[in-house]
Amino acid sequence: MSEPDWDPKSDAVLRDQLAAYDEMRERCPVAYSELLGWSLFRHEDLVRALNDPDTYSNAVSSHRSVPNGTDPPEHTEYRRLIEPYFRTEKMEAFEPRCRAIASNLVRSLLGHGEVEVIGELAQSFAVQVQCAFLGWPADMRQPLRLWMRKNREATLAQDRAAMVEIAREFDGYIDELLGTRRTADAQASQDVTASLLRERVWGRPLRNEEIVSILRNWTVGEIGTISAAVGILVHYFSEHPDLCRRLRAEPSPLPGAIDEVLRIHGPLVANRRITTRPVEIGGRTIGARERISLNWIAANRDGRAFEDAEAFRLDRDPAANLLYGAGIHVCPGAPLARMELRVVMEELLGRTSRLDLVPDKPPTKAVYPASGFATLPMRIE
Ligand code: HEM
Repeated sequence: MSEPDWDPKSDAVLRDQLAAYDEMRERCPVAYSELLGWSLFRHEDLVRALNDPDTYSNAVSSHRSVPNGTDPPEHTEYRRLIEPYFRTEKMEAFEPRCRAIASNLVRSLLGHGEVEVIGELAQSFAVQVQCAFLGWPADMRQPLRLWMRKNREATLAQDRAAMVEIAREFDGYIDELLGTRRTADAQASQDVTASLLRERVWGRPLRNEEIVSILRNWTVGEIGTISAAVGILVHYFSEHPDLCRRLRAEPSPLPGAIDEVLRIHGPLVANRRITTRPVEIGGRTIGARERISLNWIAANRDGRAFEDAEAFRLDRDPAANLLYGAGIHVCPGAPLARMELRVVMEELLGRTSRLDLVPDKPPTKAVYPASGFATLPMRIE
């Protein structure tokens, strides 16, 4: 057991994750902690791990996670099945539903004086879009929100028993949804959940537990990161009214602007790997079977990869931005995420003239494993 170099749950980290991870990247870029094993903070080190899946394996847990907890060749087969769900034509077909959700939510915020952006816009948007995308009923929204909160709390507390129980609870919801699609006219249903039931891998139908795991991976991928991203974007835009004015007058740079804001303030903290052999990285020697945590937030703010890293610049090389990861596990949901975020920001900027923080009610930051803001009181006109 190595001596800890830091404590990811210390007050300083929980108070301001961005500053804490920046500090770690400069002071101790490969750092051991009991909670996370070896955290990598530098862009160069993350890229090295991402491009070497033989050494940095995703088989981090005995609990099944499709596709994120698998390695090739298994992973390759699952990705073949998953990627078509996020193709351009699918996203274009889904965009009007997504826009209707965004515009209803934005309109419901107007004329109320003060609103709380995380609860009233960011989380509602993420959950409603996810249910619409998967073909889930509206009465799944509230259980999903509660489930995400419990999941985050158990992860922070590293309460293994609670984490297993929460995973089971999710599986229960999904089993029920799958059950209704197996009966009725499931064959005719066009929704994403029903179509997963018809998928095949290695020449056989997908097993129930594989479908549940895929849906859990998409749901965790979607709700936490999208709601964090919406909060971060609204906060950033409220602090940069000139940028808002420019984007209202000329919206075409919006997709690039969104990726750049989320590079500066990442909505996702970290993902895991496990070493399959001893490695030397960032001047440290790490043994085989050691836990690795890839810290996206720190890597995307690394001045070695991004000149004047905290500055918003639209002329940066988008390939260096690790917002959606890189290598074989690069986010398959990125086309959906990018479309959702563009649409919600178009609706927000298009329907408002002012986004202001409330002077006596500053935002509160989200704590690990979440990023962004826990609450974001604002006046929206
Ligand atoms: C702003 C929103 C999002 C961000 C920042 C994000 C970021 C990421 C990142 C960095 C990875 C790489 C993880 C790794 O290397 O271990 C990833 C993987 C993944 N994401 Fe996303 N994601 C977002 C939205 C979504 C959405 C909307 C979905 C699906 C509905 C999704 C589904 C997944 C899945 C299934 C993986 C695992 C891929 C694999 O292991 O091959 N994500 N995401």
